Amino acid sequence: MELNKTFFNKLAVSEKIVFFTGAGISAESGIPTFRGKDGIWNKLKPEELANFNAFMRNPQMVWEWYNHRKKIIHESNPNAGHIAIAEFEKYFDDVTVVTQNIDNLHRRAGSKKIYELHGNIERNYCIDCKTFYNKELDFSEGVPRCKCGGLIRPDVVWFGEFLPADQLEASEKAAINSDIFFVVGTSAVVYPAAGLVYTAKRSGSYIVEVNIEETEVSSIADISFFGEAGKVLPEILEEVKKVKEKRN
Ligand code: OAD
Ligand code: ZN
Repeated sequence: MELNKTFFNKLAVSEKIVFFTGAGISAESGIPTFRGKDGIWNKLKPEELANFNAFMRNPQMVWEWYNHRKKIIHESNPNAGHIAIAEFEKYFDDVTVVTQNIDNLHRRAGSKKIYELHGNIERNYCIDCKTFYNKELDFSEGVPRCKCGGLIRPDVVWFGEFLPADQLEASEKAAINSDIFFVVGTSAVVYPAAGLVYTAKRSGSYIVEVNIEETEVSSIADISFFGEAGKVLPEILEEVKKVKEKRN
């Protein structure tokens, strides 16, 4: 891949890199995305699964769905896209991953600084006393309950809920300070997460989009690569190596 001069030069002078990722980065690991051709939300309604009232109405059903997703996630592995992102840390001092995914694949690929905007499927907590239960839960007697009697739910963000404030604030800071802000595999339609792209843009960051198709933020991207993240990111990484060799 031949990079355009502006992006190539930008890579040479940049220090702070952010990767803002969505379901598309994990698509090649076999984890279905939410929107698009084979998206989960084509078949299922978010309001029947990913919200607190749905959980109170039918915790069993919501848990079945999350346990199904957990199984898919456990059977999957980081792909070339996650691995390329982790490798960026060899070439830049400050690399931050801000993800909307709950699947742990960035961590498993070796990325160190990760902010999770929508929670993590490996954690659970009691809806009444907020005690965390991060070990394997026992479903043999129905939906697991806390010592206090409260229902245990997955620690993921549902529609209508606030994002974890510390993760969002840290992500905003990273977006503001970034030199290059990669937007990878996200439709960029779910807020407040998607707002980070505009925050980065307003702060003068160079916006690089990687997606298989155009999105809501393509028009504000400084450069777009339309292709699979697992193919495009390793190619960009190869260019990074050239940039850095040239400088040394
Ligand atoms: P979406 O499913 O909305 O978007 C996935 C994006 O990935 C689309 O833009 C696809 O074109 C793109 N894509 C698919 N395969 C790709 C590949 N191999 N390489 C690169 N891009 C690819 O997922 P998100 O944007 O993450 O929230 O969705 C945001 C939030 O909506 C999720 O975190 C979830 C969902 O409802 C909650 O559950 C709170
Ligand atoms: Zn409790």
